[in-house]
Amino acid sequence: MQNMKDLRDFIDFLEKKNHLVRVTREVDPVLEINAIVDKLAREEGPAVIFENVKGSDLPVLGNLFGSHQRVAWSVGAESFFPNACHKMKEVVEGMSGEVDPALEEALGKSFMYAPLVEKIKQFGSFLKNRPVEVDQAPCKEVVYEGDQIDINMFPLTKLWPEDGDRFITMPLVITRDPENGELNVGTYRMMYLDKNKTCMHWLPKKHGSNHCFKAEEMGQELPVVVVVGCDPALGLSGCYSLRPPVDEFLYTGLLKGEGLEVIKADLSDLPVPAGAEIVLEGVIKPGIRATEGPFGEFHGYYSPPKETHVFEIQRITTRKDPIYHMATTGKPYTEIHYMSKAAERLSTALVYAMNSEISDMAFPKEGAGLYLMIIAIKKKRPFQAREMIEKVWKARDQASYISNIIVVDDDVDVHDLSDVMTAFSMHTRADQDLLISDRMDQDLEHPGLSPRGKGARLGIDATRKLKEENYTRERPAEVVMDEKIMKQVLDHWKSDGLDV
Ligand SMILES: Cc1cc2nc3c(=O)[nH]c(=O)nc-3n(C[C@H](O)[C@H](O)[C@H](O)COP(=O)(O)O)c2cc1C
Repeated sequence: MQNMKDLRDFIDFLEKKNHLVRVTREVDPVLEINAIVDKLAREEGPAVIFENVKGSDLPVLGNLFGSHQRVAWSVGAESFFPNACHKMKEVVEGMSGEVDPALEEALGKSFMYAPLVEKIKQFGSFLKNRPVEVDQAPCKEVVYEGDQIDINMFPLTKLWPEDGDRFITMPLVITRDPENGELNVGTYRMMYLDKNKTCMHWLPKKHGSNHCFKAEEMGQELPVVVVVGCDPALGLSGCYSLRPPVDEFLYTGLLKGEGLEVIKADLSDLPVPAGAEIVLEGVIKPGIRATEGPFGEFHGYYSPPKETHVFEIQRITTRKDPIYHMATTGKPYTEIHYMSKAAERLSTALVYAMNSEISDMAFPKEGAGLYLMIIAIKKKRPFQAREMIEKVWKARDQASYISNIIVVDDDVDVHDLSDVMTAFSMHTRADQDLLISDRMDQDLEHPGLSPRGKGARLGIDATRKLKEENYTRERPAEVVMDEKIMKQVLDHWKSDGLDV
């Protein structure tokens, strides 16, 4: 499976694979484009390029990540199912030389990665996948400065009828921590305010938002680079909650097995992916806010208006004939949920490596891909499921948005809700196996919480109980056919004419 060099390379690849269609009829970026993209995403249909967009000379690319297959291709993998272990195995094989002793111990304990530890040591440096800086790049082919700056030249989309305005829905927002210089890339939507201003909708606790609040406390402007349209592996990494020392540029390099080409921005020291389609450079000034929203969210409800930071654009560069990339949100299942599923699969492989008690995990669409987590454990000791629930409650960043957790035994398929509900019905005792947390911070956008962003969390232990967990009776045997008889039956299945 080949790595993609940039967005255009991926578009060519998808066209050859019959995964991309071109619409030549004039379409409106206000509602009409999203009506098409939303329907395509729900049907796991192709990516689409709208070549004739009302009010703009640029083509719009939509539904790029709207299929499990395309999301896997975007990081050079054939598939993420049944899980992404294969891909992560390659990643771990590639990141060697300098292995943290704690990581080595964790990997050594893991059933999957133990054989890799030696290999990791033999390989070259982990750092070989760091970004590679170049002097000239296509992303700077065309420059707009001063009065030329007007983001109305781009076909910003309005997705849903009650949305507050048009939005940039697939931006990669690049910032540095003003204290320690740590880099971050995050996807945070940006609502149109003026020809050179947008809202910056990074929620509290997101890394970009942390950087901005720090800069504000220091009384400083925060330099920001926003990229629209780039290497699809970086596009995907931007929506993952990565933490230093592995930032999104390095993670993209790890996924690809080679460093991403970057060029220094013109107004700051921030790196810009060399093959980016559109680059907006500017600052966020301290103390300035604007009202953002409403916006039709990934859980299917509008989020109400809120005050956000304001991004002031000071320079725009683009490739010649740039492509404008938009993404859709809305009721599950849509484009953002395919991306989340990939995050789940990729992080599952890492979680396996770090915590050998977990055998699988899932964030089903019924929880909008974020609010319900199902964990399968290899249960060996009493109250292990409770420990797991309490561990997740302590987790930081995006994990703090998980409202409900169900823990099952490892013979339950976490991706099959009917299997999970069967375990719940058979093994959960209402008076002993439900954990309810204190009221905690949760997702500000969660439509069911009141007051906003605050709520208790539910943990359900749906594992089989042990004696020490007050299960004092003899466990009834499970109903399973005799193995020898079953084999005999299957051997005769066809010849008995049962294979209809
Ligand atoms: C299409 C799309 C739009 C998103 N919009 C937002 C947003 O407006 N605000 C936000 O905080 N997170 C948004 N996210 C989720 C963040 O990108 C995700 O939480 C990411 O991990 C943030 O990076 P960070 O953890 O480095 O802060 C969006 C994700 C996608 C895929």
